[in-house]
Amino acid sequence: MKVLVTGADGLLGGNLVRELLARDYSVRVLIYPGSRSPALDGLAVDRIEGDLLDKARSLADAMAGCDGVFHCAAITDLWADADLVWQVNLEGTRRVLDACLTASIKRLVFVGSASSFAPGSIAAPGDETGGFPEAYRGVAYMESKHCAAELVREYVREKDLDAVIVAPTFLLGPYDSRPSGGELLRQFIVKRMKVTASGGRSFAYAPDVARAMVAAMEKGKTGETYILGGQNLCYRDFFSRAAKIAGLEPPKHVLPDPVILLTGAFAQFVGNVLGKKPRFNRTLARFSLLGAYYSSAKAIDHLALPQTPVETAIEDSIRALHEYGHLQSDAEYFKGKVALVTGGSRGVGYATAQVLALRGASVVITARGETRLRQAEERIAGLGGAVVAVPGDVARSEDAGRMVQAAIDHFGRLDILINNAGVSMRGHFAQLSPEVCHQVAATNLVGCLNMCQAAVGHLVESKGQIVFISSIAGLFGLPGASVYCATKKALTGLAESLRIELIPKGVHVGVVYLGFTEHDPEKRILTADGSLVPPERPAHHSQAQAAALILKLIEKRKRHVIMTPVGVLGALLYRLSPRLIERAILWAQAQQWGIFKRFS
Ligand SMILES: NC(=O)c1ccc[n+]([C@@H]2O[C@H](COP(=O)([O-])OP(=O)(O)OC[C@H]3O[C@@H](n4cnc5c(N)ncnc54)[C@H](OP(=O)(O)O)[C@@H]3O)[C@@H](O)[C@H]2O)c1
Repeated sequence: MKVLVTGADGLLGGNLVRELLARDYSVRVLIYPGSRSPALDGLAVDRIEGDLLDKARSLADAMAGCDGVFHCAAITDLWADADLVWQVNLEGTRRVLDACLTASIKRLVFVGSASSFAPGSIAAPGDETGGFPEAYRGVAYMESKHCAAELVREYVREKDLDAVIVAPTFLLGPYDSRPSGGELLRQFIVKRMKVTASGGRSFAYAPDVARAMVAAMEKGKTGETYILGGQNLCYRDFFSRAAKIAGLEPPKHVLPDPVILLTGAFAQFVGNVLGKKPRFNRTLARFSLLGAYYSSAKAIDHLALPQTPVETAIEDSIRALHEYGHLQSDAEYFKGKVALVTGGSRGVGYATAQVLALRGASVVITARGETRLRQAEERIAGLGGAVVAVPGDVARSEDAGRMVQAAIDHFGRLDILINNAGVSMRGHFAQLSPEVCHQVAATNLVGCLNMCQAAVGHLVESKGQIVFISSIAGLFGLPGASVYCATKKALTGLAESLRIELIPKGVHVGVVYLGFTEHDPEKRILTADGSLVPPERPAHHSQAQAAALILKLIEKRKRHVIMTPVGVLGALLYRLSPRLIERAILWAQAQQWGIFKRFS
């Protein structure tokens, strides 16, 4: 079967064309004149240029020899000129409908929008029976799509056109080259949004929607409308899932509705005064409070619409943002840099490597356990990051050399070395087996020495950066953690010496003192006899927060940062009166207070 696809280079079009080619359709695409359309690169399609509004060229000619038409082209931009939106979305559709009749097209699949129907709640989502929502009245995109869908129904009723209407919800997925739905994630990632609004949406996966559209062409009922959606999620839930995937902090607060509305009104007022279109206005403020929740039950039943988990949609969308270069501006500090993160297979190291990759760095990750390391490599690569995994033990100088060499071999340089690999221990000093002492010292201190020695020449060349991941235990001693404290304190000494040696050569050296961080379920720490146990302690901050702090230290080329207020206060008091801190720790131990319970 031969089909014409209009708007083939958009998010939906790019996925639809691939689905059609996979099913052996012969595909002709109608592309707006001069459009670069990278989403269609390398595809075996018959490509013709044309403007829906260009009366000099016949759309029927573009349809010649085709059996079916998918009409995806539309202006979806809420900022576009309203007259143009109406022209393209309504009058453009009228021209497509007339051309379908002239060219005797067997079936048209028209892409409308779920926003033509009244939404519902997450528990009782809206469906194809709802009327046009009052909230969208007067908004050119929504209203023009609604009128275009009505026009299609009129042609089916009165002119015998065979057409099926699909009404996608908010789309995410691969090949989002401009970006379209991915813009929501781009804003979240680039602006590191800490707050969100009370509304939500149905998030549809573009390849699922594409598949259901082909089913609509093959077995949809003439004149019927099918909502094509996915999971219904409030924005807080959606961004929390996105944050987990991208290694970022989830939004902390949902802003009260009046604050959002006031912000929209204020942004619009400022825009009017300055004569500029603001990125946020009263309309967007209103929309962000809406719960645009829809049921896709009809399409699941009749068109076998798949329901891929939203996490896959988010991952693919982030990868597309990466691939099409939307995540980094030229001002992005990490763009084009090469970073090596030791202990990058899990925990803080993985979180840091992931965010570095998202922000445009190429990363080398290392750890001893190869299986977990390869999984980490796959996940970062799955988000579009440039990543290489090198298994090895930092305590062995030859392994350290291989790790650094991998950065040079794969990426041609090394800009940032993050000494993160570490092992933790607990147990009174008198009972510690010598093996435990050696193992902790070998990874936490000798490992850093090995890595720095292997990397320093390359870092001098790149005027790069060395970062040590230390701990509150590197600021003052803690009972039951003697060797760990000794190694972490030693890193401060190493950093201070290196800093003086390397300042004239332009290399930055920084230390991050983390507090108790959220840990992966498989994390284990050493006990006095060398057996491994789970850490069993509270988490004062997330891995994403630790990663954000590490990147901040690098970007600002700071000497050191301390993660928690307790750490900041403790470090200050310890400098003023070490005895005071010692007494406080002894008191806490005697009271079996908090974390000190286990050391008593
Ligand atoms: N979590 C906290 O509460 C906390 C608090 C303060 C400071 N820190 C510091 O933050 C860093 C990361 O901690 P985390 O909680 O993310 O630890 P984690 O989850 O245990 O991860 C440690 C990472 O280091 C790797 N590693 C351990 N020994 C290694 C060696 N000899 N050679 C190469 N890789 C090695 C591990 O993989 P393999 O085991 O497969 O090698 C793993 O990838 C450590 O330096 C730690 O001391 C953590």
